[in-house]
Order: sequence, then structure tokens, then C-alpha cells
Amino acid sequence: MIHDKPNAFLYGGDYNPDQWPEDCLAEDIRQMKVHHVNTVTLPVFSWAKLQLDEDKYDFAWLDRILDTLYQNGIHFILATPTAAPPPWMTKRYPEILPVDTDGRKCRPGGRTRFCPNSPRYREFSAGIAERMAERYGDHPGLLLWHVNNEYGTPCFCETCAASFREWLRDRYGTLDNLNEKWYTAFWGHTYTDWDEINVVSARTELIPGALGGRDGTFFQGMAVDYKRFISDSMLACFLQEKEAIKGHTPSIPVTTNIWGIDVPYLDLFSWGKHMDIAAWDNYPSNTHRPHQIALRHDIIRGIKKGEPFLLMEQTPNQQNWQPYNALKRPGVMRLQSYQAVAHGSDSVLFFQWRQSRGACEKYHAAMVPHAGHEDTRIGRELSRLGGELHGLGDEILGSRIKAKAAIMMGYPNWWALEYSSGPSVDLTYLPQIEKYYQAFYEMHIPVDIIHPSSDLAPYELVIAPCLYMVDDAAIENIKGFVRRGGQFFTTFMSGLVDEYDLVRLGGYPGAFRELLGIWVEETDALYPDTRNQMVPAGAGIITQNYECGLLCDILHTEGANVLATFKDDFYAGHPCVTENEYGEGRAVYVASDPEIGLIVELLRHYCRAKGVEPLIPPQERIEVTVREGDGHRYLFVLNHTDTQRPVSLPDGGYYDMLKRAEIRDETITIDAKGVVVLKYL
Ligand code: GLA
Ligand code: ZN
Repeated sequence: MIHDKPNAFLYGGDYNPDQWPEDCLAEDIRQMKVHHVNTVTLPVFSWAKLQLDEDKYDFAWLDRILDTLYQNGIHFILATPTAAPPPWMTKRYPEILPVDTDGRKCRPGGRTRFCPNSPRYREFSAGIAERMAERYGDHPGLLLWHVNNEYGTPCFCETCAASFREWLRDRYGTLDNLNEKWYTAFWGHTYTDWDEINVVSARTELIPGALGGRDGTFFQGMAVDYKRFISDSMLACFLQEKEAIKGHTPSIPVTTNIWGIDVPYLDLFSWGKHMDIAAWDNYPSNTHRPHQIALRHDIIRGIKKGEPFLLMEQTPNQQNWQPYNALKRPGVMRLQSYQAVAHGSDSVLFFQWRQSRGACEKYHAAMVPHAGHEDTRIGRELSRLGGELHGLGDEILGSRIKAKAAIMMGYPNWWALEYSSGPSVDLTYLPQIEKYYQAFYEMHIPVDIIHPSSDLAPYELVIAPCLYMVDDAAIENIKGFVRRGGQFFTTFMSGLVDEYDLVRLGGYPGAFRELLGIWVEETDALYPDTRNQMVPAGAGIITQNYECGLLCDILHTEGANVLATFKDDFYAGHPCVTENEYGEGRAVYVASDPEIGLIVELLRHYCRAKGVEPLIPPQERIEVTVREGDGHRYLFVLNHTDTQRPVSLPDGGYYDMLKRAEIRDETITIDAKGVVVLKYL
């Protein structure tokens, strides 16, 4: 539990009172009470209003607001306003402004426009963080620190170039080593002096849009390093503010709101180590399917090894920045809120409290719409949800999800895989992860998302789709897991390169050849309209033909059993799904991209073999999770359909926490878009 103050799920959202006259505050508080808001986040973008000049501050307005909120029972998450440096600052110190990938220097404007390596930016941002910590550290309303807002803008300036060289010296020690690891003999890139090394941008080694719209690069190892470096640079900004804050409030947690799970320059697993609690902003479009959103929550939970996280932002209704900003259908806001909780969130927070009157977010929904009152469809939904969450109290807070299956993923792996020039421009990482995740999701089997260096002891099954870039430690970690009886799955485009993006020679799939008992000789890339089929072979684990496509490995077994073979083309009859006994465990290889049905069959078989059972019998478009803590188990059942659904609960004996009644029936009925939260008796 991260807070003992509201004694409930944090409920509320981003509050930007500086956009409004101060006399709005009383009405804001009235409506916050109507909605059972217990927490607001502020002042996210108010640097210009707090620091008027180098040594001139005005905190009086914020003092009044914080005190009034607290006197009215509303706690706050204090945001350092460092995502938007004031115009006077960037005008006086243009070195704070970043340079884009085309080498163009930004002018003041927008937000999150700062060079993460600018000493001036670092000094000013740590400075305002420290001032705020000094001033508000003892405020009884303070729950949590929220540093900056959605880090993620890369920079390609000369300061970054110099810092990059330092970062590289640390990583590689000598220039010879760097030349070897970056493979600079290719195209005559050998460096003879550190100063010859540049940022990795569209003006150097990136090829914008080359890979079906995604950036390509001439040197993958170098380009992945630049992403690692920018991630570390932004993390250093976060840590500098965190340190300044911790000097005053050592026991108040510090976090930042991560903008999504695929921020192009952030390695979330390395950030997770430094955030006291993980927090993120969930903005699905109406076309996102529930399992895709569920996966994103699980990734955020995964970056802090399963600890509860915070849903820091979501919209109560439509967004403004999608091409078509559909309304959230009735019930969806509530359903998505509980989905976050079901996956481990201890909060339901929104962007934003009061809908802006001007600028680009004026048509982005908020808890208080332009109409100004709560008597609206969304207003009623918000009050109901607030009341329900309040009624749940604090007993679920801090409880955790216990999974026996895990999906392994990594950000440098993601970057390297998608920077790869060949074999197919259509290969992207997230859909591969999503597919395996969806299979578990539909079986109602909980999954953790883990890093390749994670302790694998808690798991029976570990799935690593397209684990392309692996270091030696990860290989040993995985082999040890299988040797001790674990069940490992991997796919095409796995084990091929080391952490520098150098191919592991001696036959694909390099790192995993011995573990999988196979040798991949060639990989065919299929045109989008071409399919092959996987035909069952051997053990009977796969029972029917399944279509496959994208990539097809032509492989030879070296001890593995064949579970399926290709049906078509010159490699018809060659193995495409194999299983190898290794130590006490098994390692399965899927050599192409199949229909999900094949993945479901495979995983169902191995889950059963390992005694990993569904939480309740699988039912289409019903989502189920369990959180556990303090000797109690809480079952969340979410109905994503538009009709009322019966759901069977084999164990019987639950307490319905929303209806506050015992349930002894074996079947319950859930409303369309409904949610049931049950405590096992
Ligand atoms: C992000 C930001 C918010 C707001 C929302 C709009 O999450 O953090 O400030 O701009 O997007 O969706
Ligand atoms: Zn820079």
C-alpha cells in the first residue's frame, strides 16, 4: 500500500486550477465531493506560474489551493512542473531546448521540449523540485510525488553528442572494443578518436520511414545504443529531481507518469528499478481490444516485478488527439477503470478534472465538462464509480497477482528487432507478444510480464516470443529454468544476436540452438497475401492444421521432437513446431507466425501438464483476474460484451464486494459491460 491516507483507491485526476479564476475552487470542491474524489494531481504544467524568474517564485496561489483541498478531505499528488520550462527560461538559455533528428533546433513552444543532458535544464528542474519539497514536504495532504510528465522526447544536440561519448566510454572502455561491438569495419566506419562519434539521427545513421514507416538504420547496434543512452539521460533527469525531493521527504514515494508501454526511447524495465511505484497513462482507442489493454497494465506491473501500480491518467470519455475521437460507450469508463484495478492498480485517476477552455485539449473530455455541472451521462458514471471505489475501502490495496506463467520481453530487444533490416518489414514486436498474451488471457490464466534477467523460480511456463537480442546471462537464466523443470517457449527471430546486435555465429537460433535441439538453416519471408500451413505431427499435442505466415524457418532437428510440419512450398514436410527435452524441462520452438488457435492448443497442453489451471472455466470476452493479499483472494470478473452474461463460478462461496452480499450460487449474471468483484470466502 503506497498511502495510508485516503484509505481507499486513489480516485480523482489531474487538476489544473491555474487555467481558471481562483473562485472556481469552491465549485470544484463541491463537485469533487459529489464524485467521491479523494486525490488530485497538481500542478503539472505550472512552472511558469511558480517560478517567475531566476530567483523569483510565487507559491502563494498554490498554498491556498493545497490547503483548501486538504481542509476538504482531498489529498494530492504533487507534480514537479518540469515538463514545460517557462518561456523566460528557454529564451534566456536556449541550450535547454532540444535539437530534433533532422538537426533543427527547437524554439520555445509545446511541452516536454528540453534536452535531457542540458546542465542548465537539470539545474533548474532539480531546483524547482527542491523548492517544492522544502515548501510542501510536511503538508499533511501530500501523498506522492509525480516528477515531470510523460518523459520521452529525444534530443540530438551537441551536448547530447558529448554525453553520448562519455556514456560509450563507460560501456565499452576502449575505442577498439567499441569498433568491434559496433561492427564499424562495415562501410569504413572505424573510429580513431572518440570525438568522431556522433548522435544517431536522421542526419547520421537513421533512415526515417525506411521500414514501412518505421525508422531504419545503417547500424543497428549503434542505434539501439542511442536509445539506451537517451533512456538513461531522461532517467538521470528523473533521478536528479528525485534526489532533490528525497532530501526533504525521504519516506514519500516518487514516481512519474509513463506515457505508454512503447515510448520510443524509454527502457521501462530500467526505469522501473528507480520509480518507487510504477504509474502510467492508459489511453486506448475504441478499437483496442480488451486483452491489448490488459497486456499494457501487466507490462506496467511487470516493470516493478509485480508490485501494485497506479493508473495515473485515463480519460473519462473521448480524447482529442486521435483521428476519430469516439465517445466511450456507456459503462466502458467504469469497466476500463476496474480492468486497471483487476490487473494491479491501486488508483483510478483521470486526465483531467475540469475541461480546458482553450488550446488543443479543449475537446478532450474531463470530469467536469464545459457544461460545468455533474448532471451528465459521464457525471453520473463518475459518481457511481467514485462511490463504489470508496465503498471497497482499503482491503484490496497492495494485493498482488500470482502468476505461474510469464511472458519475457525487453526494450533493447524490441528496438533491435524493429531496426532489423530484413527478413520482413511486417515483423513488429508487440503483436507477437499480444498473440501469446491473448492465448493466456482467453484461457483465464494469469501472466506476468518479465525481463530476461528476472528470477524465473516462481514460474512453470516462460514464453519469449521473438527474443531476438539476448545476452549471455539471460541465456543462462533461461537454460537454468528449463534444466530445473521449467517449460520454455520461443519463436522465429529468437536468440540470433547478442546485446550489441552481433549475430551469434555457428547456426541459428544461436543462443537457443542447444536448448531447443534444432538448427535453423534459412528463414523465408512471406509476402502479405501468402500463407503456409502447420500440419500436426507426432505426439498429438497439435490436433489440426493451422495457417501461418510472415516468416518460416527451415530447420533441422538435433534431438527435438517434431510437433508440426509445414504443408506447402519447397520446405513442405520440414518441422515448424518442435519440443526438446532439456534437463528436467522442455523447450518448444514455433518457427512461423501461426493463427492463435495453434498457440492456444500448445499452451493449454503445457499448462495442463504443469498443473497450471484457468481461474474459472474459460468464457469468451469475459475477463478474469485474481488479486491476493493478507490471506484473502479477490476475483474480478469483467464482461466486455454488450449483453448480460451468465458466468459459472465452480468453487462457490464468495462475498460480492460491490453488492455487499454473499453468493452461494454456482452461476452469477453479469450485466453488459458489467463488473463483479468477489472475495473468496
Ligand atoms: C497525456 C498527458 C496529459 C494530457 C493527456 C491527453 O497523458 O500527460 O497532460 O495531455 O495526454 O490525453
Ligand atoms: Zn541534447
